[in-house]
Amino acid sequence: SVPIVRTLAELRSTVAGWRREGLKVGVVPTMGALHEGHLSLVRAALEQADRVVVTLFVNPKQFNNPADLAAYPRTEKEDAEKLSPVGAHMLYVPDAEEIYPEGFSTTVSVSGVSEGLCGAHRPGHFDGVATIVAKLFLQTGADMAFFGEKDFQQLHVVKRMARDLDIPITIVPCPTVREADGLALSSRNVRLSSQDRAIAPKLAQALFAAAEKLRDGRLAKPVLDEAVKALEDAGFREVEYLELRAEDNLQPIDRLDRPARLLAAVFLREVRLIDNVPAQPS
Ligand code: PAJ
Repeated sequence: SVPIVRTLAELRSTVAGWRREGLKVGVVPTMGALHEGHLSLVRAALEQADRVVVTLFVNPKQFNNPADLAAYPRTEKEDAEKLSPVGAHMLYVPDAEEIYPEGFSTTVSVSGVSEGLCGAHRPGHFDGVATIVAKLFLQTGADMAFFGEKDFQQLHVVKRMARDLDIPITIVPCPTVREADGLALSSRNVRLSSQDRAIAPKLAQALFAAAEKLRDGRLAKPVLDEAVKALEDAGFREVEYLELRAEDNLQPIDRLDRPARLLAAVFLREVRLIDNVPAQPS
């Protein structure tokens, strides 16, 4: 079974031993409640690195909504059981003091890519993400870090942060894992009622359909407006955003004239879901 490490000292000494042997170290940061999406990152990491550390920390600083933090699933035992057969070398579950000791006062804040989309609706969220991810990169000293495209804006924030702070780590993006009906796997999906679970895949379906329509380079706005209306009619309580952004820098674009992403956040009752799909001009 996967060894669980709870202190920074033990993490550091284990990784130092691996480095002395010349082994490449990969890290997969998570907040637990592991599903196939997380496990796909671990498998990718095992292919590219010699040793893989999975981190599990439900980071209070990135939750702008206290109810969301309280409701976040905590399933450490099951998580360790899911990781063991995959072959991860360590599960780092830091005690809160190892991450935010008394007197902790530093925030890593990335401007630009963290503005708009989720950044516009979750104040402080990406500061919380950038701060914890910077710490996890520095604590693990990993050579490579694996992130899901499911959280596409987060991936951009993390890349920018590592580049700007000269943290010597390669960020490896991994494709979104979906259920057979298209719903992107998420730790929050377990909170959907059975009725809402039936509506949820319509988000991905609407994104894929809109991305297809935009391929001829027509003006995006009418297509996106129509998609928002279709989602509202399908039973989503609110469409927080549905936007077309350039793939490489997340800048808004008004038609598909370069590789892009369609990104959305919606609410089904109190559960917030995000998703995104690639959009390529034909
Ligand atoms: P969490 O939501 O647990 O996600 C951990 C990693 O799994 C992220 O890189 C996320 O993009 C990826 N992931 C989630 N669902 C996925 C799916 N369906 N397919 C592929 N990858 C998926 O994201 C976080 O935690 C936190 O913000 C964290 C980076 C750990 C910082 O606290």
